[in-house]
Amino acid sequence: MIDLAIANTRSRPTPVWVLGPGDTARSKGKLPASCVAWAKANGFDGQKGKILPVPDEKGNISAVLFGSGKDALPFDLGGITGNIPAGNYTLEGNFGDPHLAALGWLLGAYRFDRYKSKSPVMAKLVLPAGVESSTLRREAEATFLARDLINIPANDMGPDELEAAMRNLGKIHKASVKVTKGDKLLNANFPMIHAVGRASNNAPRLIDLKWGMKDKPLVTLVGKGVIFDSGGLNIKPGNSMVLMKKDMGGAANVLALAGMIMDAKLPVRLRLLIPAVENAISANAFRPSDVLQSRKGITVEIGNTDAEGRLVLGDALALADEEKPDLLIDVATLTGAARVALGPDLPPYYTDDDKLAAEINKASAAKFDPLWRMPLWAPYQKTLSSKVADVNNISSGGFAGSITAALFLSRFVEQAKSWAHLDIYGWVPSSKPWAPVGGEAQGIRALYDVIEKRYSK
Ligand code: BES
Ligand code: MN
Ligand code: ZN
Repeated sequence: MIDLAIANTRSRPTPVWVLGPGDTARSKGKLPASCVAWAKANGFDGQKGKILPVPDEKGNISAVLFGSGKDALPFDLGGITGNIPAGNYTLEGNFGDPHLAALGWLLGAYRFDRYKSKSPVMAKLVLPAGVESSTLRREAEATFLARDLINIPANDMGPDELEAAMRNLGKIHKASVKVTKGDKLLNANFPMIHAVGRASNNAPRLIDLKWGMKDKPLVTLVGKGVIFDSGGLNIKPGNSMVLMKKDMGGAANVLALAGMIMDAKLPVRLRLLIPAVENAISANAFRPSDVLQSRKGITVEIGNTDAEGRLVLGDALALADEEKPDLLIDVATLTGAARVALGPDLPPYYTDDDKLAAEINKASAAKFDPLWRMPLWAPYQKTLSSKVADVNNISSGGFAGSITAALFLSRFVEQAKSWAHLDIYGWVPSSKPWAPVGGEAQGIRALYDVIEKRYSK
C-alpha cells in the first residue's frame, strides 16, 4: 500500500507546486511563466485545497498547482493524491516541513480496497530531500495497519483474525506470542474477559506478545479488542451498533504502535496485551445485575453489559500491572462520552503522572497527533459504588462518562510506575485531506515519540 504512493522515479516526474495566497506572483522566476499565466487565467491564488493542473502545448500535464491557503495544516497535501492523474510527482514551492508534507501525501493516498474488485491507482510522490524514508514508512505503515484492522468488518476480523494479525507481527519481529483462550481464561484467572466474550461463537482470548531484552525498561501496551460491540443484553439501537466493528480500535492502534517500536528496535522490553472478544448475545451471555469476579480480586456488579470494554481491560491491566512496568499505556474506544466532550478528532487521555503528561503534550504537538489531557477526578470514584459488590461497571448519574470509565480502569492499576489511558474514537466520520472516512490511527505517532525520547538516551 505504501509502495503505491512512493514513486520509484523511473518515469519523469511532474512537479506539484505548493503555493499560498500571493505566492504565485512572488515565485516568478522559479515558477515557470506558463504556470504563472495559467494560474492567473484560472483565478488560482493559492486557495486552500485548490488543485490546478497546468497543460503544455500538447495538452499533457506539465505541472500541478496546489493551494495551501493561509492557514495550511501540515497534512493538507494528502488531499491531492486521489484528485490528480496517476503518475510520479515531485514537490516544489512552499510545502513546509518535507517530512510532514510527504506523510500527508501518503496518509491521504490510503484507500480501503479489500472488498473492491478494482483498486484505485494513486499519484506517487518522489520523496523530497531531507525526508528519512525509514521513519516515514514506519509511520505510514503503522497508520495503514491500524486503519485496515479497524475497517475490516467483524465477520473477517474476529478474535481469530486479530490473533493472526498479532502472530504475524510477532513473526516479523521475532517476538513471542502466547494466547489464553476460551475456558482456559477461567483457570488462568481472567474471569471478566471470559464473561464478556463467552456468548460468541468466536472464543474470547487474551493475546500476549513479548519482545526485547530483559534488562531494558518495560513498556506494556494494552488495547481494547472488542471485535464487535452489540451492547450485549443491553443491546445497542441499530444506529449506535452499525459502527461497532471499530470497537477493536484500541487493539489496532497498540498493535500498530508495537510494530513501530519493534521495527525501530527501540531499546525497551515490550509487552503487548490484547483481550480479543465479541460482546455478543446468546443464552449464556452475562447479564445486568450479575456480579463478576476479576483477576485483581475486586468484585464487579454489572450495571450495563454495554460497558464491556472496561471489564476486559480491567483483567488485562491487572495482569500488566503485576509486572510493575516502567510505562503502562492502554488505548480503547471506551466511551461515547469522550466524543461528547471533545469530538471525534481529539482523544482524551488520562494520567496521574504530570511528567508523562508533559511528554505526551509535547509529542502530540510536534507530531500533529492530537491528544488532550482530562482529569482522573477522584471525587467521582464514589459514583461507581455498588450495593452488592466492590464496584459497579457504570456510574450513577450518567455524568462525566469518559472520566468515570477511566476511574474504573484506575482501580486495576497500582504498581505500574507510570500509566496513561487513551479514550479514542478510532474513526474518521467525515473525510479529511489526509484521511478518508473509516478507521483511523490516533495517538500512536505521539506515543511512539514519547517512548523513543524516554528510552533512547
Ligand atoms: N464501545 C462503546 C463506546 C463507544 C461508543 C465508542 C460509540 C465510540 C463510539 C462502549 O463499549 C460503550 O458501549 N460504552 C457505553 C458505556 C455506558 C453503557 C456506560 C457508552 O459510551 O454509551
Ligand atoms: Mn459497549
Ligand atoms: Zn465497546
